Amino acid sequence: MRVKSGFGRAAGFLALAGAVLAGGIACAEGKNAATAKGAAPDPTLAGAKVFQTNCVTCHAASATGNPAMASAFGVDVALMNLTSSRVRQLTDTQVTDIIRNGKAGKMPAWKGQLNDDQIADVVAYLRSLEAKKYAGKGGKTHGVGHD
Ligand code: HEC
Repeated sequence: MRVKSGFGRAAGFLALAGAVLAGGIACAEGKNAATAKGAAPDPTLAGAKVFQTNCVTCHAASATGNPAMASAFGVDVALMNLTSSRVRQLTDTQVTDIIRNGKAGKMPAWKGQLNDDQIADVVAYLRSLEAKKYAGKGGKTHGVGHD
């Protein structure tokens, strides 16, 4: 009787120790995963990923528009240039709106596919491209909270 209950306690202790240990490992793994992804994500970097995954086919890696896609859509490639002075004149809200709802039945609507954070990130990324392109050329900057 005594031996049995002693064994029970020991087993209970081992199970507890095991659970704590496993919990500790799981926790450490979680931390590593977060670090690998970037603990405090830079919206511009996150936006670059969103852009590369979803927009490059039509807007090209440079965001100046893919000429082949422009002719497929029957639009001037200039309309697909996201580093244009036209896009630069749009407010973040206007650009966000175009990305969410699409444009002219050609630019697809991304709401439902990209969440608000991803759209804000990709807008920040586009602004960073504009900032590079127009650096030193004076002019105003947009960016409500993205700069
Ligand atoms: C299937 C092709 C396609 C994809 C994918 C696409 N776009 Fe477009 N986009 C277009 C076309 C075509 C236009 C031009 C529409 C027009 O003005 O006639 C456009 C226009 C735009 C405009 C407006 C430019 C302006 O001057 O008004 C923005 C902003 C834009 N796209 C952002 C994006 C972003 C960000 C993504 C990725 C999340 C994306 N697009 C993915 C085809 C695409």
